[in-house]
Amino acid sequence: MTKVLSSSFAEKTGTPTPLAQSGTAASMGPGELVDDVKRMLLAQNAVLVAHYYTAASLQDLADETGGLVSDSLDMARFGHDHPARTLIVAGVRFMGETAKILNPEKRVLMPDLEATCSLDLGCPADEFAEFCDAHPDRTVVVYANTSAAVKARADWVVTSGIAVKLVRYLAQRGEKILWAPDRYLGDYIRKTTGADMLLWNGACVVHEEFKATVLRGLKARHPDAAVLVHPESPAGVIEQADVVGSTTALIDAARSLAANTCIVATDKGIFHKMQQAAPDKKFLEAPTAGVGATCESCGHCQWMAMNTLHKLHHVLQNGGNEIFIDEAVRRRAMVPITRLLDFARAQHPGTLRQGAA
Ligand code: 13P
Ligand code: SF4
Repeated sequence: MTKVLSSSFAEKTGTPTPLAQSGTAASMGPGELVDDVKRMLLAQNAVLVAHYYTAASLQDLADETGGLVSDSLDMARFGHDHPARTLIVAGVRFMGETAKILNPEKRVLMPDLEATCSLDLGCPADEFAEFCDAHPDRTVVVYANTSAAVKARADWVVTSGIAVKLVRYLAQRGEKILWAPDRYLGDYIRKTTGADMLLWNGACVVHEEFKATVLRGLKARHPDAAVLVHPESPAGVIEQADVVGSTTALIDAARSLAANTCIVATDKGIFHKMQQAAPDKKFLEAPTAGVGATCESCGHCQWMAMNTLHKLHHVLQNGGNEIFIDEAVRRRAMVPITRLLDFARAQHPGTLRQGAA
């Protein structure tokens, strides 16, 4: 039986809230459920845009129905370019909001509106505005993993797929940067570009768990393995990487590198696509427990995990979980996101796949 938590409990604890299954969906087998979702996507002129960290069943559905599975940059670009009237965003809240900011005329639905992100939660708009006010001489660059209100305060929005290129470009113009919210990604960009960057103190609860010392030991046991790292990881982990990049860049690297084994420091949801990209290769999870630790973290974003096939079926059937954004905020937030998309297009005209951080 599905256990339904009260929203107040979920709010207090951050515990994912399983949605009660609709009567029809609850009685369906997985195959029937998938077929029914496909039918409703078609009937409602809807397209599914999913992140690599979501359940394999959702990724497969997006692939099979002409949707997209990708990183946050390509998710934004795809939703913007696709003619569907309804975008179903399987990911976390900021991804749905970005889709709505860019496409106010479209209906944007999410399987679970409570799926958020520790970076977004750790950067409240009012505190961020004070930080910006205190440093008016700096160009404000925010990571996409932020609320619409934080984006509305920014000059630029970036994703991990384009962050280094954009900051390097700004630094070459002599601009000093105010960066939020991920301090690890900010530190990596600062070291890579030499830009003058003031950092907000946020972190991803999943990537922050990867442990540098234990990773060194794992590398020693697999000397031929390539190490693939998402730049939300701590510096000691990034230092050991053969490739640092967005989720798309890491999958591309898994496919193209000569190594037959890859150690991967990002959410384990990515293994589904990595294994498809390189079926003969072996993928190992980067360690999340320190020396002598009695427990390890799961290496999986619990907010991404809130996206399920049943919830997707439920929103298509009942039309709930729609994203709405205050129009004044949306208009302001659209400016730095549009700059991002224009910059990305100028870097790689005509392509959807970006990748390198
Ligand atoms: P990507 O844009 O690289 O997919 O990253 C999004 C994210 O939330 C990583 O934790
Ligand atoms: Fe946010 Fe981290 Fe989850 Fe990505 S993996 S959505 S950065 S909490």
